[in-house]
Amino acid sequence: MSELQTQLDKLRSAFDRDLEKAQNDKALDNVRVRFLGRSGEVTLLRRGIGQLPPEERPSAGKVINEAVEAMEAVLQQAQAALEMRAFESRLAEKIDVTMPGPPAAIGSIHPNRRIIQDICRFFQNHGFAVVLGPEIEPEYYNFDALNIPADHPAREGFDSFFLTDNLLLRPHTSPMQIRTMQQHRPPIAVVVPGRCYRRDAVDARHLFQFTQIEGLLVGEDVHMGHLKGMLTGMCRELFGRDQQVRFRPSFFPFTEPSAEVDTTCPLCRGNGGECRMCGGSGWIELGGSGMVHPNVLRNMDFDPDVYSGWAFGFGVERMALVRYDIDDIRRLYENDPNFLYQLA
Ligand code: PHE
Repeated sequence: MSELQTQLDKLRSAFDRDLEKAQNDKALDNVRVRFLGRSGEVTLLRRGIGQLPPEERPSAGKVINEAVEAMEAVLQQAQAALEMRAFESRLAEKIDVTMPGPPAAIGSIHPNRRIIQDICRFFQNHGFAVVLGPEIEPEYYNFDALNIPADHPAREGFDSFFLTDNLLLRPHTSPMQIRTMQQHRPPIAVVVPGRCYRRDAVDARHLFQFTQIEGLLVGEDVHMGHLKGMLTGMCRELFGRDQQVRFRPSFFPFTEPSAEVDTTCPLCRGNGGECRMCGGSGWIELGGSGMVHPNVLRNMDFDPDVYSGWAFGFGVERMALVRYDIDDIRRLYENDPNFLYQLA
């Protein structure tokens, strides 16, 4: 009997020693298996009961059971202590909620759109309205009403994509001059940004689809000085305070006189030389302009002796190339974020 007690005491000290070293769930479990498991130390002791004289067996069993209960209780406490420690260390964990996260990728306004916005804002500040028109137009708006009769060679220059015998993708925004004058009496002051289409071979300077912005002013005593003043202001808004504007005589059937409009090359500031942007001329071409042709006014039932007006039509992509120093117009349509972010 006392021999059993000695064995139990030894076992208990071994148990206590192992338990003290057990610092995680797995180690605790190992202790449990080693001492209380099915083929553990206690089971070995129990087997010894059979060898005892019958009258000693019940009390031996009782002593072992008490020892087992005590060890189970201690194991449970150790388990609870472990859980508490894990919980406390999680409570002590500090998360800095003010630490900035990775920056979100936000898009940027496309260079074309920015030019359109800036031009529209400039003209709106001067009392112009912004209007939009259809990209598919009948020949009447594209040509006839703009003083380009059938068979006139000027149609060649606006060669475009015909959808039917009569309908085509507009090659310029000038049809909106007609639509606006059909709906409003002078004074008329509008700008018209929009997509246009031409049968052009694609290269660094040309696309078959591009963007124009049209301007139209019709009223009494409107003259070319107004045109020059507005375009100079617009160029200064877009490219800088010292921009100059130059008119070169040209021809459009719907304006008379007509002029190509140039502005100071923003890259060489008009100095020319070896400038790759303007080819050394010091000037950049923006597009066409002129005084609204009397025939166009007559087509709209506006008396050319009372009313006069000017109009212009500029290429938006061309302005973007110049403003952002872009070498190839196709880049504007490749949607490469790395390219676009540089201009944002
Ligand atoms: N529509 C002309 C073009 O696309 C430009 C222009 C517009 C010229 C208005 C004169 C007046 O070439």
